[in-house]
Amino acid sequence: MAKVKISPLISDQNELLEKINELEHSLNYQKKLNKALKQHNQHLKKTLERTIAIMIKIAEMKDPYTVGHQVRVSQLATAIAKRMNLSEKKVESIRIASLIHDIGKVSVPSEILNKPGRLTNSEYALVKTHPEIFYKYIKDIDFPVKVADIILQHHERINGSGYPKGLKDDQILLEAKIVGVADVVESMNSKRPYRDALGMDKALDEISRNDGELYDPEVVEVCKKLLRENGFKFEKVGNNHPY
Ligand SMILES: [Fe+2]
Repeated sequence: MAKVKISPLISDQNELLEKINELEHSLNYQKKLNKALKQHNQHLKKTLERTIAIMIKIAEMKDPYTVGHQVRVSQLATAIAKRMNLSEKKVESIRIASLIHDIGKVSVPSEILNKPGRLTNSEYALVKTHPEIFYKYIKDIDFPVKVADIILQHHERINGSGYPKGLKDDQILLEAKIVGVADVVESMNSKRPYRDALGMDKALDEISRNDGELYDPEVVEVCKKLLRENGFKFEKVGNNHPY
């Protein structure tokens, strides 16, 4: 009777099967890990959005005239950024920064924020501290990108007349220029304690007149196109809105 030999091929096949098994386990483990990571990221994102919503509510309690202001600025700024084909990361940082750009105003006394008349120089100086105040609190938070810097720079103007640092054109982040234009347009289109809403025509006239002087020409052009030709409309900010 012939001796049965274990062929090296069969032994290799067994080894191969073992390896395939190991690989399958490792792939399953990787899949599970990816799923857990995805769930964790979704949870973090939800927590961030809820935190932002709470910060907005607190700021609005202090300054009721600006209810919805930051959310509307965020809607317009995000639309401008998308229209300018900025990267997803930049669009996201513009969205987050504009949602909370004025939170530093909680450090300004309510009587000043809600004053119906013209502010004195010292009152205005206090209001102008709001970008820096909030910047100091959030500069160490690991936001996607540059959120703190966008907030710090949203009142800078390209001829250097803005605040807090009087930065000029190249020194200002494009993201901050976008939030700055959206901020001006939304503010002029809304009622304030010291004046009625001025309307969209006046808001667009303001950015057109100061195009290249205070505001970035490309941002102004895209903003005007969005509002005049592309039918951009602010979404209603109400009870059902996340913010
Ligand atoms: Fe502001």
